[in-house]
Amino acid sequence: MIIESAEFTVSSPSLAACPKTDLPEFAFTGRSNVGKSSLINMLAGRKGLAKISSTPGKTRLINHFLFNENWYLVDLPGYGYAKTSKDNRKMFSGLITDYIGGRRSMVCLFLLIDIRHKPLKNDVAFINWLGSNAVPFTIVFTKADKLYSSQLKSNLNHYQKELLQTWESLPTHFVSSSVTQSGKEEILTFIGSTLKSLKV
Ligand code: GTP
Ligand code: MG
Repeated sequence: MIIESAEFTVSSPSLAACPKTDLPEFAFTGRSNVGKSSLINMLAGRKGLAKISSTPGKTRLINHFLFNENWYLVDLPGYGYAKTSKDNRKMFSGLITDYIGGRRSMVCLFLLIDIRHKPLKNDVAFINWLGSNAVPFTIVFTKADKLYSSQLKSNLNHYQKELLQTWESLPTHFVSSSVTQSGKEEILTFIGSTLKSLKV
């Protein structure tokens, strides 16, 4: 799919404050610092669209970006960042679960996972929660450029093993790097075909 336009629409502090629109939405979530904003910029082909920071916890609002004037990418706050206070942490995950559970125009959630790490408890718990709540989602393993291909394979295997304890197969997944731009075409093709399938 070709991206002809991508623009920031609005930041919302709650689900109720999100734009009133029926346009389909693809949301991005994952642990703080996993590369959500970087991935959105890569897909948009615009470096400064979503704010990137080496300080985790930068994205604290629900950010809507309008693509090709007919669908949204939504940057959700990061979760599980240890240095935010407990209350903040609750608020972040509340925002995420409110959005996921209540946003009827969300067609797919992208769960981003840093491929450098072994399966982390709260990521696996989140994946299982998505599965048991029938939330449509795919996994994007990020920062692939930081590993040699043998390490990458071995970490992917680790994840597969972990998830196969509860899943029949690994959920749809992509491997990406916003440094090398790998995964960009695959993710955009997936979004394009999902959008097409909605127009029955
Ligand atoms: P929060 O909004 O704080 O939750 O973070 P985020 O998930 O939006 O992450 P962000 O895109 O801001 O990136 C966090 C850090 O990781 C930045 O220093 C990025 O430059 C770096 N980063 C993101 N994606 C990649 C990647 O694919 N490869 C490498 N090497 N670094 C990346
Ligand atoms: Mg961010």
